[in-house]
Amino acid sequence: MKVTAIAPSNIAFIKFWGKRNSVLNIPYNNSISMNLDSVSTTTSVEFLSELIEDEVVINDQAASEKEKQRVVKHLQLIREMAGIRLFAKVISENNFPKSAGIASSASGFAALSVAGARAAGMRLSPTALTRLARRGSGSASRSISNGFVEWIKGTSDATSVAKSIHSPSHWAIADVIVITTLGEKQISSTEGHDRVVSSPFYKARILGMPEKIREIKSAILKRNFTNFGNILEEEAINMHSVMMTSMPPVLYWSPQTVEVMRAVWDWRSAGLESFFTMDAGPNVHIICEEKNVQLIHQRLMNMSCVQKVLVGRPSVGARVLEVEK
Ligand code: PMV
Repeated sequence: MKVTAIAPSNIAFIKFWGKRNSVLNIPYNNSISMNLDSVSTTTSVEFLSELIEDEVVINDQAASEKEKQRVVKHLQLIREMAGIRLFAKVISENNFPKSAGIASSASGFAALSVAGARAAGMRLSPTALTRLARRGSGSASRSISNGFVEWIKGTSDATSVAKSIHSPSHWAIADVIVITTLGEKQISSTEGHDRVVSSPFYKARILGMPEKIREIKSAILKRNFTNFGNILEEEAINMHSVMMTSMPPVLYWSPQTVEVMRAVWDWRSAGLESFFTMDAGPNVHIICEEKNVQLIHQRLMNMSCVQKVLVGRPSVGARVLEVEK
């Protein structure tokens, strides 16, 4: 059976940075995100008796050894759960350029989990799929559920799960993704997660989390864009402060990142409301209401530091596209 699944990428408003358990990917705090309709991975998985090892193709090319090892590890987990021993052929395609510096691990492991579990003959519940995806990459757990999602940190494999808090239609907001640097090598998030405890600010970050989560959930529920935006922007700076004060330091911002951050502040003081957030890379995600997408897009196109702009809107989560027998 060949199963094809698609999964969206997601942007976190409250971030996952730091693991309590790095084997199970149990985080120190809950995180909140929105799935993005225009940035996705489509993956097909087929377990075949004629294979003598797993075969992994990503964007029409054989996966690098490092990429392959991560996929094989996830396939191994799926085989153990399903009680099968066959190797698999995995073909995965991102609809965004690899060099764009958009992390593909969230959409990638979500799509691999959905396609792989079904191809292995399992019918996992949506919650069980969030647990499986989490093992591949923490943020992938949030790409399984629909729309606006909370990943509950939990304390064990069984309790660390993601859940939809609102459907995609709840709120017409958008993520204007500003690609500032093409193809730059980064410190991987896996390496970054391991360094957090060395930051003197990490404890304070974690202590403030429950209150921040409560406040942002209330702002999302009430569609209070100003409160929501202030929290998500503070949160991005908070996470990056922890990154920069880790030992050795993790600095993802480039001069272009800062230029876009400052532009967002200038626009905001002149009445155009939008807020920024950044993940483990130099690109900036500008979160705005749908009515402002076009104007922000235009302004970005006039900035010489901007390489490319993508717009992501709230999306459903991962799903099976096709089952071929
Ligand atoms: O899922 P990972 O291990 O690649 O970590 C994701 C980390 C951030 O993107 C920086 C934050 C997040 O919550 O998505």
